[in-house]
Amino acid sequence: MKIEKWEKQVDEVVDKYRERDAECDIFFKNVIDDFDKDFSILEIGSGTNYILGYLQKKGFTKLIGIEASINRVLHGVMDYPDIPTYCCYLKDYDFKYHLDVIYTYSALFLNKKDICKFIDKTTCKYFGCFENFKIVKFNVDKELKKFGYTKIDDRPVRHRGIKWFKRND
Ligand SMILES: C[S@@+](CC[C@H](N)C(=O)[O-])C[C@H]1O[C@@H](n2cnc3c(N)ncnc32)[C@H](O)[C@@H]1O
Repeated sequence: MKIEKWEKQVDEVVDKYRERDAECDIFFKNVIDDFDKDFSILEIGSGTNYILGYLQKKGFTKLIGIEASINRVLHGVMDYPDIPTYCCYLKDYDFKYHLDVIYTYSALFLNKKDICKFIDKTTCKYFGCFENFKIVKFNVDKELKKFGYTKIDDRPVRHRGIKWFKRND
């Protein structure tokens, strides 16, 4: 049986992982050193949990995902069995546990009402997002300001889609 095809695909997959690790490095660059290792961290729209898996590799243990797609959750559970993931829509998640960090990565197309509702329910210290704000017409800075958050991370143009906020004490 010829395995060249599969060998090539492994390279592609590994390259993809490397690219994604580099993406995660950029996303967390200006904040990760301020996160305690025992922070509770939630990703909204966590997909197959790749980013949460990245944080696990960095030593964080209290990680949670919310993901509406059952197929993505099942993949995530197989790859990262120690990361609990709620298979539900954001609007149905019960914010009863304390969270220190919440972020979304390419999932901010969730509507404005949902975002405001969850921010209102949580007292999380850090909120981060990556989005193409030219496409997603949502003034996240203005909305978070209403809930006492200040932008802490101003990036150069090529990383402008990344925004991190911290709640004022
Ligand atoms: C572009 S993907 C990004 C996945 C992940 N953040 C990553 O970068 O690997 C957006 C994800 O958000 C999920 N999603 C979209 N709307 C959602 C909602 N209202 N509640 C929960 N998950 C949602 C989708 O199912 C999808 O997996």
